[in-house]
Amino acid sequence: MNTEIIGTLDGSFTLRNKYYGETYHSINGAVAESIHIFINLGLKLFERQDISILEIGYGTGLNAMLTFIENKRLGNKILYHGIEKYPIENEAFTKFVEHTSALAEITPEVATKFGEGWNEEIDISETFKLYKQKTDFCEFVPDRNYDLIYFDAFSPDTQPEMWSEENLRKIIDKLAPGGFFITYCSKGIVKQALRNLGMIVRRMPGPAGKRHVLQAQKNNQ
Ligand SMILES: C[S@@+](CC[C@H](N)C(=O)[O-])C[C@H]1O[C@@H](n2cnc3c(N)ncnc32)[C@H](O)[C@@H]1O
Repeated sequence: MNTEIIGTLDGSFTLRNKYYGETYHSINGAVAESIHIFINLGLKLFERQDISILEIGYGTGLNAMLTFIENKRLGNKILYHGIEKYPIENEAFTKFVEHTSALAEITPEVATKFGEGWNEEIDISETFKLYKQKTDFCEFVPDRNYDLIYFDAFSPDTQPEMWSEENLRKIIDKLAPGGFFITYCSKGIVKQALRNLGMIVRRMPGPAGKRHVLQAQKNNQ
């Protein structure tokens, strides 16, 4: 196994990728981080709308599953497209879900759909369609538009190619006018790349252990 499960400071768990030496979420609180950044600063900008979400770095599926749970309250109709080059093994996925009490309302049958079945659209519910694509983001050619992008790659120090302006451009080009790009990384090179691509970049307060995160919006014209 290329991953190991580890505890984080909010009592939730994450995986550590042994090859990259990086965790899938913050060791200061995996669930707290995901909710703070992707749910509160991203998903909650939409209510009772028909939206498509692109996630770069699907990983454990935590962001996707928390989006599904929160969306029951928000009432959006969602197409969720996750990109992942190295899907985690089923065993690691199952263990992760079992350890994550924030996912308790997801039944085992539904959890299985979040973990298995790549490169096909799956109806999780009437209002949530999931498409997990196993591909390298650097070779990914988007062919649909998005309203919201969760950019959750490993850090620019570990995988600078994921954050290149060229790679960001191809997904920003597919973001709807007024759409949002959310990421945990507030490094200067990321902010600059987003500004070069015409995005309005806002530095927002981060979760525990992180001063800032980025919420960037596409010009509304
Ligand atoms: C920070 S983790 C993502 C955590 C995830 N969003 C979650 O909710 O668990 C980064 C992810 O990017 C994936 N990744 C690494 N290189 C990639 C590539 N070239 N293309 C697509 N995904 C990649 C890793 O395997 C890992 O799952």
